[in-house]
Amino acid sequence: MIIDGGPRIYMNTGAMIAAFAEGVREGGGETKIVRLYDIDYKGCRSCMACHIKGKCSASCLYVDGLTETLKECVEADGLVLATPIYYGEMTGMMRAFWERLTFPWLDYSKGVLMAPKRMPVSFIYTMNGSPANGEKIRRSSMRSVEMMTDMALSHELGREVEAVMANNTCQVNDYSLYNFADGTAESKQQWHNTHWEDDLRKAREAGKRMIKTEF
Ligand SMILES: Cc1cc2nc3c(=O)[nH]c(=O)nc-3n(C[C@H](O)[C@H](O)[C@H](O)COP(=O)(O)O)c2cc1C
Repeated sequence: MIIDGGPRIYMNTGAMIAAFAEGVREGGGETKIVRLYDIDYKGCRSCMACHIKGKCSASCLYVDGLTETLKECVEADGLVLATPIYYGEMTGMMRAFWERLTFPWLDYSKGVLMAPKRMPVSFIYTMNGSPANGEKIRRSSMRSVEMMTDMALSHELGREVEAVMANNTCQVNDYSLYNFADGTAESKQQWHNTHWEDDLRKAREAGKRMIKTEF
C-alpha cells in the first residue's frame, strides 16, 4: 500500500511513488496507490471507540472516506508513506491519516504501539531543502513518526527506518511564471539534471528491497 500524502499527482512526490512502485513490480509484487487528497476525511476525533474494554479494534472505527484504506493498510504486506515536506513536516493530510492509522494500535494498558500484522514500512520525502536540510527535518520532525510506525509494524525496537528523499526539487515546471529569486530556474535545473534520475533510481531500489523483505 502506497499512501500519497501530496496534492500533485504529476509532480515530484507522484514521480517518486511511481518509481517505487516500478521497483516493487520488478521484484514481482503489486502496489496499490491511494491519494489522500482525493479522499474526504479528518484526523483522529478521539472518539476512543477503538479503545473500549473488551472491544478494542486494530483499525479506526470512525466511518468516513478513509475507512476502506485504513483496513487495506493493516492487511497489506508493506506500507509506504510518501509526502512532500510542508513547513518542515509531513503534510497535514498525511498527519491526519497517520493519526487514524496508528491510534488504534496503541495499547494503553500495556504501553505499547503494535499493529496486528507485521510488515515493512518505507517513507518517501520530497522537498526544496538540501540533503543536509532533509536530514535535519528527519531528525527534528519525522524521526518519531518513522520510529513509531516501524516499531508498530515490525514489532521490533529501534531498527533503522528506510526513507528515500528527493531534495531541491523543481517546485514548478516554469519558474519564469512565479515570484522566485533571480537565478532559481537555472540552479534548480542544474540540480535536477544531476540528481533527479538518481532520486528515482533510489526510489525504485527501495521498492525492490521492500519486496524482498521477509516478515
Ligand atoms: C505549503 C508548502 C510548504 C512547504 N514547506 C517546505 C519546507 O518547509 N521545506 C522544504 O524543503 N520545502 C518546502 N516546500 C516545498 C515542497 O516540499 C517541494 O516543492 C516538494 O517537492 C513538493 O512536492 P510535489 O512536487 O510532489 O508537490 C513547501 C511547499 C509548500 C506548498
